[in-house]
Amino acid sequence: MEKKFDGKVALVTGAAVGIGRATALLFAEGSAKTVIIDLNYEKLNKVKEEIESLGGEVLAYECDVSDEEKVYEVVKDAEERFGKIDILVNNAALWKTFSKFNETSTDVWRKFLDVNVMGTVYFTKAVIDGMINRGFGRIINVASVAGVYGNGNMSFYSASKGAVISFTKALAKEVITNGVTVNSVSPGSVSSSAIDDIDHTAPSDLAHIGRTGSDRENAELILFLASDGASYISGENVIIDGCRKKL
Ligand SMILES: NC(=O)c1ccc[n+]([C@@H]2O[C@H](COP(=O)([O-])OP(=O)(O)OC[C@H]3O[C@@H](n4cnc5c(N)ncnc54)[C@H](O)[C@@H]3O)[C@@H](O)[C@H]2O)c1
Repeated sequence: MEKKFDGKVALVTGAAVGIGRATALLFAEGSAKTVIIDLNYEKLNKVKEEIESLGGEVLAYECDVSDEEKVYEVVKDAEERFGKIDILVNNAALWKTFSKFNETSTDVWRKFLDVNVMGTVYFTKAVIDGMINRGFGRIINVASVAGVYGNGNMSFYSASKGAVISFTKALAKEVITNGVTVNSVSPGSVSSSAIDDIDHTAPSDLAHIGRTGSDRENAELILFLASDGASYISGENVIIDGCRKKL
C-alpha cells in the first residue's frame, strides 16, 4: 500500500478482532503509527505483533472504553509517546445480544449506552482539543444499519447506534472550520470477527449482493474517510451494506 498515512497517528478502539483489527492493520500498512485499544488484551497483543511484523510502530492498551478516567489516562500516555492523535476510530461496541424490548432489563440498556455511546464520547473528548489546536483531525465512528433502520430484538443496540450517528452529525458542524472532519460508517452484516481472514465473506440473504461484507471492505471505507482525499466530507453517515434488504 502507498504510504498514505506517513506521519499520522491513528487510534482505533476495539482493535483486537474484526473491523477494528482490519482497520489498525490497514493504517499500519499505510505507514501510520497506530494506537490500539481493547478490553481483550490477549487478542490485542496478537494484533500488536502483527503490526510490528509489518514494521509498524504501535502502542497497545487494555482499556474499557466506558471507563472515563482510564480513557483519558490512555490517550494522555499515547499522546506523550507519539506526540498527537490525528485520527480516531471509535469502533469498540457491544452488539451480540438479542431480546425483545419488553424482556430486556434497563441494566442492558445502560450497559449498551455506556459502551457504545459514552465510550465514543470519552475518546472524542480526549482527542478533540488536540485536533482543534493542530488544525487537523479525522474522527470516524462505527455505527450500524441498526441505527438507521432499527433492528427488531435489538432496540437497545439500535438506539445506541442512532445516538452515535446523530452525535457525529452534530459534532461535525462544530469543528469543520478547525480542520476536523467527523463521519460515521454503518455496516450491514459483516463476517464473523472470530475468523482471522480480514477478506472473509459468507453467503447472506440480508443483502441483495448475496453475501456478508468483509472486515477489510469496512476498513477500506474507514481509511478513505481518514485520508486527505476525504477532506470535503463531514457530518455524513456512510452505509456499507451490500444493498441491504430493508427488513
Ligand atoms: N459485525 C457486524 O455484523 C457489524 C454490523 C454492524 C455494525 N458493526 C459494528 O462494527 C464494530 C466492530 O464490530 P465487529 O463485529 O467487527 O467486532 P466485535 O463486536 O466482534 O468485537 C468488538 C471488539 O470491541 C471490544 N470491546 C467490546 N466492548 C469493549 C469495551 N467496553 N472496551 C473496550 N473494548 C471493547 C471487544 O473486546 C472486541 O475486540 C462495532 O461497533 C459494531 O457495532 C458490526
